[in-house]
Amino acid sequence: MGTANKKSIFSGVKPSGDLHLGNYLGALSQWAPLQEEYNCIFCVVDLHAITVKQDPELLNQRIIEITKHYLASGIDPAKSIIFQQSAVTAHAELAWLLNCTARIADLNKMTQFKEKAGKNQETVSVGLYDYPVLMAADILLYNTEIVPVGEDQVQHVELARELAKRFNHQFGETFIIPAAKVRKEGARIMGLDNPTKKMGKSDTASSNYIAMLDNPSMAAKKIMRAATDSEATIKYDKENKPGISNLLTIYSILFNAKIDSIEKKYAGKGYGEFKKDLAVLVENFLVDYQKRFNSYSNDDIIGLLKSHAEKVRPIAEKTLTEAKQKIGLRL
Ligand code: TYM
Repeated sequence: MGTANKKSIFSGVKPSGDLHLGNYLGALSQWAPLQEEYNCIFCVVDLHAITVKQDPELLNQRIIEITKHYLASGIDPAKSIIFQQSAVTAHAELAWLLNCTARIADLNKMTQFKEKAGKNQETVSVGLYDYPVLMAADILLYNTEIVPVGEDQVQHVELARELAKRFNHQFGETFIIPAAKVRKEGARIMGLDNPTKKMGKSDTASSNYIAMLDNPSMAAKKIMRAATDSEATIKYDKENKPGISNLLTIYSILFNAKIDSIEKKYAGKGYGEFKKDLAVLVENFLVDYQKRFNSYSNDDIIGLLKSHAEKVRPIAEKTLTEAKQKIGLRL
């Protein structure tokens, strides 16, 4: 762990709401294969979760749950670091330093804030507005070069790049400039009930998403009920056939098959047959996934998070100290 000549990767998931297939396909499923080649750090970003109201008990459980999802997705704690954001205080501290580099105009551009705050921009928390700066701190603390995420986080990674460049320009070389890594297909998994809208955990309709902990046979039913398009050929065409294109993407990533080979397999066949097969595949996949998820005890997870926080703290402290010194916060 922490080999000097390997590039560093950082990513994270908020412990809020149910982890869904969009999170898995867009982000987590990208991570495990990167562990051999890179120094990987995967964070349970609990300070991001509290930008909106959370029940304290539930939040506590979800921190443990997200860690189990990381493990079930194939993250190996012998190869990668998995830790809880709030256990390393350097995140909040660097966020403050970067707050003094970020501009109101930067944050006013953030589309996720606009979507989340909607008409309530005056009453949501300051934390929700400032969230991308904390995310920049997460990334920049660990000399991160690559940030594997779904498409909705790319704008935030761009801001982290911009803040790093601005800081380096003003105070001298301090931060590595990171870049987002998104899947070519699967960076934006769409809602099953409405394939023109992103699959999301804050969506109230449970027919929108498949949660990774959904009852597998219920998940299969959601696939069968997923919205498809009027012209019933199994063809990838995001513009005109968003429903079937989304299902083809899910099939392709989960079962490691090329989209054109799936199209060939189902040439001349109808949606019903394709959906039935996908439903069975998804059901079996979730059974195996949940078996792995349930094999970890809460105590194991707490021990893992604590010991890995010890490992990353010195890396974070080193970057933070350097940034403070550059700014002039030293004696
Ligand atoms: P979060 O918790 O909302 O989502 C976790 C990951 O899932 C991806 N994702 C999707 N990918 C494809 N299709 C979808 N429908 C879909 N919905 C969500 C997200 O892009 C993300 O990669 N701000 C981040 C967490 C974070 C972070 C970081 C990430 C905090 N600090 C530093 C990377 C680096 C977030 O809220 O993700």
